[in-house]
Amino acid sequence: MSRVRFPEGFHWGVATASYQIEGAWDADGKGESVWDRFAHASGRVKNGDTGDVACDSYHRWREDVTLLREMNLTSYRFSIAWPRVLPQGSGAVNRSGLDYYSRLTDALLGAGIRPFPTLYHWDLPQALEDRGGWPNRDTAGRFADYAHVVVDALGDRIGQWMIFNEPSIFTTMGYLVGIHAPGRRDLEAWLRAGHTVNLAQGEAFRAMRAARPELAIGTAFNMSACEPAGDSQADADAAERWHRLLNLWYLEPALRGRYPEVFPSGTPLERMGVREGDFERMRAPLDFLGINLYTRTLVRAHPQDPLGIGAQAVGPVGGSDGPRTDFGWEVWPKALHDVVVRITRDYDRPPIEITENGCSYADGPGPDGAIRDHRRIEYYRGYLEALFRAIEAGADVRGYHAWTLLDNFEWAEGFAQRFGLVWVDFATQDRHVKQSGRWYGRVAAENGFDA
Ligand code: FCB
Repeated sequence: MSRVRFPEGFHWGVATASYQIEGAWDADGKGESVWDRFAHASGRVKNGDTGDVACDSYHRWREDVTLLREMNLTSYRFSIAWPRVLPQGSGAVNRSGLDYYSRLTDALLGAGIRPFPTLYHWDLPQALEDRGGWPNRDTAGRFADYAHVVVDALGDRIGQWMIFNEPSIFTTMGYLVGIHAPGRRDLEAWLRAGHTVNLAQGEAFRAMRAARPELAIGTAFNMSACEPAGDSQADADAAERWHRLLNLWYLEPALRGRYPEVFPSGTPLERMGVREGDFERMRAPLDFLGINLYTRTLVRAHPQDPLGIGAQAVGPVGGSDGPRTDFGWEVWPKALHDVVVRITRDYDRPPIEITENGCSYADGPGPDGAIRDHRRIEYYRGYLEALFRAIEAGADVRGYHAWTLLDNFEWAEGFAQRFGLVWVDFATQDRHVKQSGRWYGRVAAENGFDA
């Protein structure tokens, strides 16, 4: 047996997102978001589920803070719903929306838990989507204004912030693949959306810095270990291009003011809407990098791929060697080690926060009420040990956030995938800590475990 012990002061937390847990979709002056519109109208969410009520955390936040405390957690990553704060995306501020996050912040601080918010976890105000959404470069300026409003109101009590959650996922799923809000399938819109998001990241960073110079600011990037599917050099090259597109498309602009080389025929700057001066505007010297990671990605060369990058992810999510979660995602702990080590090497040992990592398993209450979700414990054990090895290898990792506190609205899957450490009975909103939640609480208390 070896002891896995994390550095002193390491943050143990969980992550959630506004649309996935809050409910109260039109309460107290909140405006409509693209996810409200998409879930209500598109028929593209499983079982017709919506986030109208979700986990009702807008009303039950006290209970949720109590759960965090019972699990000995020291960090809570949540997101702020832009249309709660600015119902039309810009213009009039909705005080009661800000008050909700202010009450939550005070309760967390009172419980000794770091409030660790994300400004954008996918709920764009519908009013801005009606004006073109992320493919419209004006959205970058609106986002920076919103960032300023929020930091002005809460930055006296919250010191560490994330700008975006998973920019490459929401642009790709929302504008290219169309299975997430706003459900568009348009290659040109996707190219432009990505560039607007990079501009928005730079503009928001500067707005936040100007309002409060002392803040630590990052973004939660989705990352995956991109591995060649076969032995050929072509597959190895394709995997490297995929790594740059998936992991670096929003990181390299922030840290180095340029796009990584992804397209064999050159970065399509004109189609992306890049103008003179934009490379400087994209810059955001982030104070820490958030990494969301679930599995690896196998990639093969594909000369005719429609994106024009000559690469394609193969088959189901991950590879085919490891066990799978109920979502079908491969359990592959080494991916977390490999990505953290590579980012540490390529970006000069930046401070890293693991902002999401977790698994979906349906295990529910047995006859005695206990929820024996052993596979989830094994998942966390494996990934945490891999993370510990990365720290041993020199990575500067400051915290870890399990996805997620509560079973919740899993986007296109509705309530069909349960990622929580806490079971939610959606008929009654009762919450029951799973065995994995108790296990994780002990890990947090002991700052590690025996592997
Ligand atoms: C991530 C999202 C998060 C959650 C997990 C399972 O991509 O950031 O909201 O849905 O996946």
